[in-house]
Amino acid sequence: MNKCGIFDSGIGGISVAKEILKTKLFDEIIYYGDTARVPYGNKNESTIIRYSLEALEFLKNFDINFLVVACNTASAVAVNELKKEAPFPVLGVIEAGVEALKNEDKNSNILLVGTKRTIKSNKYQNLLKNKGFQNITAIATPLFVPLVEEGLVEGEITDKIFDMYFKNIDKEKIDIVILGCTHYPFLTKTFEKHFKNAKLIHSGQAIVKMIKNNYNLKGKKDTKIRLFASDNPEELRNRAEEWLNVGG
Ligand code: DGL
Repeated sequence: MNKCGIFDSGIGGISVAKEILKTKLFDEIIYYGDTARVPYGNKNESTIIRYSLEALEFLKNFDINFLVVACNTASAVAVNELKKEAPFPVLGVIEAGVEALKNEDKNSNILLVGTKRTIKSNKYQNLLKNKGFQNITAIATPLFVPLVEEGLVEGEITDKIFDMYFKNIDKEKIDIVILGCTHYPFLTKTFEKHFKNAKLIHSGQAIVKMIKNNYNLKGKKDTKIRLFASDNPEELRNRAEEWLNVGG
């Protein structure tokens, strides 16, 4: 039995689960969202590491073969600690997102958006620089998380918040936007509207590429997903039904 664990700070990681589900490479996905303690994006590193290690302990109960850290914030600060403690491979979405850019022009103008902690950690920026990318603008856009959770993925309010965050950016000159947060893929249409010339990098799609390139997984499985949350699991299951069209 091939089982993939997915850990997120809350419900946003469903955007990553959705892409992994589509591959049909796993018999089972075990999703754990730390909904009692979300958001992670404005917490300090040691707290996020502690929460992530607790999530690992929970997921160890399910005999998973992989752990995907869907949360960009946890990927930014806790992946090394998780790798040390886990008896299975741990894949973070940040490495995957940067890997997805390997064939892009090194002079591309890259816009990175994420939570405050993700941006402050400099993890994306350092990995991108190591790959030769120099033109990186990084902006913390924390208001996008509640916008998505309220279903405000398009429209006047969303456009105004985009205008506020990106007022100093020449949007037409941006070639690549890294959606460095679980929630942001749900804003794809608005990103496409504001960044007409940009390619969008989605963590879920990037992690799927990484799994396919590095692990010899085959077959078309009828993947089941089991959803767990540290608070209000019904809300997670309702969101999953809405976003994935599957039940708990
Ligand atoms: N899951 C988080 C991320 O991808 C967003 C929500 C939070 O701040 O916990 O960074």
